Amino acid sequence: MIQALNDYLTFVRAGLPYTQFDLARSGVPPTPLPEPSQSSGPAGLPEAFGEPIFTRGASGAVFLALLATRIAGARIVASEYPSYPIFSAVAESVGLQDYEIRRDPGPNSVVGAICQAITDGADVVALQDPHNPTGHELSDSERTEILETCRHAGVWVLVDRVFADFAHSPEAYASEPNVMVARSYSKSLGIGTERIGWLSAPAQMQPFLTQAQDVLQGQPKKMEPLIRQRLTSLAARHLESNLALVQRNNTTLRQWLSVHTEVTSAVEPSTLPFATLQLPSTIDSNQFSRELLRRTGTATVPGAYFGLNRDQIRIGLTSPDFSQGLQHISDFIKK
Ligand SMILES: Cc1ncc(COP(=O)(O)O)c(C=O)c1O
Repeated sequence: MIQALNDYLTFVRAGLPYTQFDLARSGVPPTPLPEPSQSSGPAGLPEAFGEPIFTRGASGAVFLALLATRIAGARIVASEYPSYPIFSAVAESVGLQDYEIRRDPGPNSVVGAICQAITDGADVVALQDPHNPTGHELSDSERTEILETCRHAGVWVLVDRVFADFAHSPEAYASEPNVMVARSYSKSLGIGTERIGWLSAPAQMQPFLTQAQDVLQGQPKKMEPLIRQRLTSLAARHLESNLALVQRNNTTLRQWLSVHTEVTSAVEPSTLPFATLQLPSTIDSNQFSRELLRRTGTATVPGAYFGLNRDQIRIGLTSPDFSQGLQHISDFIKK
């Protein structure tokens, strides 16, 4: 799993120019600066989270949260597979046992799988909502059922919401008593290299979080109000334009898919800044992504890194050169 994460990071780093927003070249008009009266920022940004703990990205928030549950006595963390392998990697490093939730097709599948995990002894349920790489968002009823089930069972829920700004309900989970939420600006502002994230957690978790913070020396304990205010207004300025760019690239992708019928969308369409493509079954995406990157500079992530099929790739939707990237993909498939 750690190897998979390292391989994935190699691809992400190699493709950095393609994963960052570049609004100057995108043709998407900049969003005007908000009026001072609006500077508290749009819904879902740090203010909504009371006293967030400033962390190094959402990864730092996940690390802190899982370490805190470990200090509080948790032993088993259940998380979905396939997925971006953050929970299993962190669980291993803080000494939690990893329990795989496998999602079967069917309307209540996630809830059923989580109930099974709890029956099997999970003390923590870790979710990605929206989920990477499928883009799936839990429905309100799924969310409510999961949270109620976990609350009754005395189980912590950790939600990685690194893609929340692209979600239909960015503020979901904001005030749940047994829920910790990890967020960051890595995706929505395209500033993954800056590691600006935060964790929101209920009061009963605070003593364990304080101990966990003491282990992770050097981390500021709180997000200073001034920093928070500045970040919020920065986000307010850029978020709308970034969402518009993703939306535009999504439209381009739909059009491209309607012409290039040898490729299909492997998951349901979403508002997220990535998509998973089903390539012709003869293609090994590991080799495909490596060669595509080497020869054209277009970065994609092989499905295997998320536990997806070998003939699937995940692509980002944040590049101003998105059409060119798609062109490279279709040319490469023909070869
Ligand atoms: C689901 C998920 N969580 C967390 C991260 C890492 O976020 P950050 O850069 O804020 O640490 C990623 C990065 O791709 C991700 O996909």
